[in-house]
Amino acid sequence: MTITTDKSRYMQHFPTSKKLFEIALKYLPAGVGSTSRATWSGWDPYPLFIEKGSGAHIIDVDGNEFIDYLLGLGPMLLGHRPKEITDAVTKQIQNSGTIFALGSKLEIEAANKVCKCIPGLEKIRFLNSGTEAIIYALRIARTYTKRKKILRFEGMYHGFSDGIYWNKHPSLKAIDKSGNCIPEPQGPGLPDGIADSLIICQWNDIDSLYKIIKENASDIAAVITEPIMCNTGCILPKPGYLEALRKLTEKYGILLIFDEVITGFRIGVDGAQGYYNIVPDLSVFAKGLGGGYPVAALGGKKEIMQLVDSGEVSVAGTYSGNGIALAAVSATMDYLQRENVYDILNNSSFRLRTELTRVLKKSHIPSYVSGIGGMFQVWFSEKEIHNYRDALKYASKDIFHIWWEEMLYQGILFHPHYFENMFISMAHSEKDIDQTIAKAEKAIANVKKRCGL
Ligand SMILES: Cc1ncc(COP(=O)(O)O)c(C=O)c1O
Repeated sequence: MTITTDKSRYMQHFPTSKKLFEIALKYLPAGVGSTSRATWSGWDPYPLFIEKGSGAHIIDVDGNEFIDYLLGLGPMLLGHRPKEITDAVTKQIQNSGTIFALGSKLEIEAANKVCKCIPGLEKIRFLNSGTEAIIYALRIARTYTKRKKILRFEGMYHGFSDGIYWNKHPSLKAIDKSGNCIPEPQGPGLPDGIADSLIICQWNDIDSLYKIIKENASDIAAVITEPIMCNTGCILPKPGYLEALRKLTEKYGILLIFDEVITGFRIGVDGAQGYYNIVPDLSVFAKGLGGGYPVAALGGKKEIMQLVDSGEVSVAGTYSGNGIALAAVSATMDYLQRENVYDILNNSSFRLRTELTRVLKKSHIPSYVSGIGGMFQVWFSEKEIHNYRDALKYASKDIFHIWWEEMLYQGILFHPHYFENMFISMAHSEKDIDQTIAKAEKAIANVKKRCGL
């Protein structure tokens, strides 16, 4: 079944976005600022252009208002323009300044607050993006262990650097007859030799992990994983999987790197590592860290970060630890310490997931909702999805796309691709959730009709 966007209906709803997209195509490759906003990522026939956001709501250039579950792909954990963070950043710009290439009290304060929250962080360095932080985490791991290889999992995304932008969403061919994954670049232009420094594994499968680690232990510097797979929908770890990963890596002297770019601060103030009670050796944070401002952090145990202390591994960046980022982090950490903020987030998310499950069940469309904390995804699938290959085999991309489109017309916004997530913020109110559920009932009825289900 291939079902595509009803283009004329879309153009009727979003005429000004269409005009802007046509102009954008002249100056911006693909008319957008990043791949996830491109037509081939699901924004078919063109992405929306946004005027402004406030709290859990955004308004597009045609004046359509949406309850926002895209949330900038995750960073808007506190909603759009949270007053406390906007004020802190504005104050920093107006009273202090942005970049000095020197230290500040604010940097110490921000680092202290982050380390207090996250069990695996004793020392951190602030950076600007998840991609940068991952590059450094891998470099530190190789230096620390004096080993060359990184084990990564299919279906995960750890940024777009040459060394790790492999097998995010590989082709079905990237597996041999014995079921071993084969390194496959995620796109052209990546140096061939990097394949030799990677071992690719299927996630959520303890047996294959055990076998691969046992066979390659002396070469593996680090295993890098998202504690929850957030880049192939929202897939939770099977009970015991992360624990086994921690035990195995410890046993063989391999560093465990948690990529908490999405999960960090989104499923709890202590990250996924706090939630699952597993302390990695190194971890990386970004999207939940800065209340919507660009910032990332890389950190871990003192004995490993000692490589950065001593200067053996250089962790640099002109914009690293800039005043805007630090003010945002410091104010965000204060916000997240407030009583009840996570209760509100978790309750909203739980209620929405429960009600969506009810609506979907009533429709008899094979589907389910998976999620945790402030993120979830709807799978249109008869079977449960535990890893990337399950998702490819069982989940319907087309039905998801129609569901996205029908929700969009109802004023509910999220990413059109089934491998992304629906995010929920601390600014979503009970009314927002009620409205979303009511709209989902209508949208699902239309999905049934359009898909002939
Ligand atoms: C889990 C994960 N790691 C790393 C990255 C890369 O972060 P950035 O886009 O800030 O470079 C992303 C981005 O979506 C991500 O989801």
